[in-house]
Amino acid sequence: MKDMICFAHRGASGHEPENTLLAIQKAIELESEWIEMDVFPVEHELVVIHDDDLERTTNGKGSVLQSSLAYLRSLDAGKGERIPYLNEVFDVIGSSAKLNIELKWIDTVERVVSTIEEYIKNHDWTYDRLLISSLFHDEVKKTKSLLPEIMTAPVFLGPPPDNFIEIAKDLQSYSMSMDVDYITGEIVNKAHQIGIKVVVFTVNTIEDIEKMKNIGVDGVFTNYPELLSKAE
Ligand code: G3P
Ligand code: MG
Repeated sequence: MKDMICFAHRGASGHEPENTLLAIQKAIELESEWIEMDVFPVEHELVVIHDDDLERTTNGKGSVLQSSLAYLRSLDAGKGERIPYLNEVFDVIGSSAKLNIELKWIDTVERVVSTIEEYIKNHDWTYDRLLISSLFHDEVKKTKSLLPEIMTAPVFLGPPPDNFIEIAKDLQSYSMSMDVDYITGEIVNKAHQIGIKVVVFTVNTIEDIEKMKNIGVDGVFTNYPELLSKAE
């Protein structure tokens, strides 16, 4: 399905441990256009992990935000992989894919902006390969105000609020990241009327990819990027 935009969700996380450099490499191998990774701020860094505690995806214990970087980096995030830093994500992707950074906490903006500026200035990165998204819409707004060229997306978990269009307009967003359990053709049409794309998470079967296509969705977050080429 060439006209559906593919976001490898937490990397190709159906194949390799989520939010690791291995999952990125697999997403690149599967030719995903975009790779989505989650970040939390810890000390001066952004660490790449989904949950705010460590138990599910690592051999560590406790809260990500209350851990030291030294502790986080000592952990196994699956198959011997370390919890990556955001700059390692940029390095591994290089020019092979686009990157959606999902901000999983507040106080992320300065670090995200300085990493993006560094990779645009000194490496082969361009704004058209970057998308910043978050459930914390203020973080998205601050990022956009500092980097007006950046593409952004509010994330809506559960049913979108009545003013979801106003939120997206206010953020001047490129897209909206919407929950698969609450997406409808009507929501998609409203977004399209103001020129905003709809990308739905998380869509892991061919049948559901086809359903999304039928209601006009522009793209999907999937743990299995290879499914897009199998859908009709
Ligand atoms: O950004 C889309 C999607 O990743 C949001 O949900 O919980 O998988 O980060 P989650
Ligand atoms: Mg995410």
